[in-house]
Amino acid sequence: MHDDFTWGVATSAYQIEGGRFEDGKAPSIWDTFSDIGDLPESGDVACDHYHRYLDDIALMADLGIDAYRMSIAWTRVVDAAGNPNLAGLAFYDRIIDALLAAGIVPWVTLYHWDLPQSIEDEGGWPNRSVVEAFDVYAAIASKHFGARVKNWITINEPWVVSMLGYKDGVFAPGRTSFADALAAAHHQLLAHGRAVGTIRANVPDARVGIALDCRPCRPATPNPDDEAASRYFDGYRNRWFFDPVAGLGYPADMLSAFEARGHLTSTTPEWLKSGDLETISARLDFLGVNYYTSVAVRHGHDEDEATDVPSGPYPPSGYTEMGWQITPDALHEYLVHLHKVYQPNSIVITENGASFGDGPDLTGRVADIRRQDYLEQHTGAVRRAIADGVPVDGYFLWSFMDNLEWTSGYAQRFGVVHVDHDTLVRTPKDSFYWYQEAIGRARTS
Ligand code: FCB
Repeated sequence: MHDDFTWGVATSAYQIEGGRFEDGKAPSIWDTFSDIGDLPESGDVACDHYHRYLDDIALMADLGIDAYRMSIAWTRVVDAAGNPNLAGLAFYDRIIDALLAAGIVPWVTLYHWDLPQSIEDEGGWPNRSVVEAFDVYAAIASKHFGARVKNWITINEPWVVSMLGYKDGVFAPGRTSFADALAAAHHQLLAHGRAVGTIRANVPDARVGIALDCRPCRPATPNPDDEAASRYFDGYRNRWFFDPVAGLGYPADMLSAFEARGHLTSTTPEWLKSGDLETISARLDFLGVNYYTSVAVRHGHDEDEATDVPSGPYPPSGYTEMGWQITPDALHEYLVHLHKVYQPNSIVITENGASFGDGPDLTGRVADIRRQDYLEQHTGAVRRAIADGVPVDGYFLWSFMDNLEWTSGYAQRFGVVHVDHDTLVRTPKDSFYWYQEAIGRARTS
């Protein structure tokens, strides 16, 4: 790995901050969803990072990372009238200053799923006016933090936001229309493209990207039906987002497939306006990729979900506690694929990690050997991709600490720091020390 390769950890605001009612924060769709939904836990307190950020940053400094990927809560920094909320901005000022003082470079994500409830009340992501509102937010954040924050990620995982939030209704805001989900996807991509220009206007030396989630897939068998199902799944899950961001427009086969299934009224959707695709394909400084697992697809089940079968072309070396297959070869192969098809000038792994529930033993040690194995295998896959000529320039481990895993609550633990959710005590796990050493080794090799 080259000398300026970035090693980091990632978190997001709702998953760690708590402080739900602090300093004028407005409600987000996740606050509402946790109030009305049947969720095991809410983010009202989360890891109480709102009050414990100095301790957390001290641990990050100990870990030896170059960079910390955090998100800003839109609802803390912009009030309902679209004006800056100074108290909310001051909270992130304190964090950013503490990171810089510790020699850690902040990478800021603007949108990690916590849409202001007031915007959802006006239609949310399916309503085009959200693009303007996001741009106002991007302008406020980039003007305020731009002298200190140079690395920006616009939107995190637009597939999850649209499909789990607006199609399946299992994530906030809990709506269930495929047509709305496609509009929500488009408006996120458009908001991303607009924000790229706004951030660059305010921060001339900014490096800007997006964090796209991917789910590499392969047909479970060479049967043509499985091949067709896999192609559809890849279009729905991956290409629908990667293609337009890279300037290829929406995939033609998917426009037809969505029309045939009744999710679009025509292959020229009403939400697609002239100039949108140019905006969406704004030049990026890096393509952020979140990778956890891959799937083998078998035809004949719910076609919009495809079906993940527990074997196939990438036999998993195991499963994480999310039930996700462990397939590091798929990460290597997908990075090579992204490089070949889209040729981004730089790729950054903006998330990668695993959920395993290990807690402290009687001596207080957290021996999370399975996470260590997962991380070793996946950083190895990244190294192999680099050796194959893929320009991967950074790796952010998800996650710095155990946190609120959305609708799974605190039961799914992704951290290299264990958090006792009763006492909020933090304990570095063995994987923390493994990562510390791995970063040190990479620097001297
Ligand atoms: C990703 C999310 C992140 C976290 C991990 C496990 O989809 O971006 O917030 O929940 O999955």
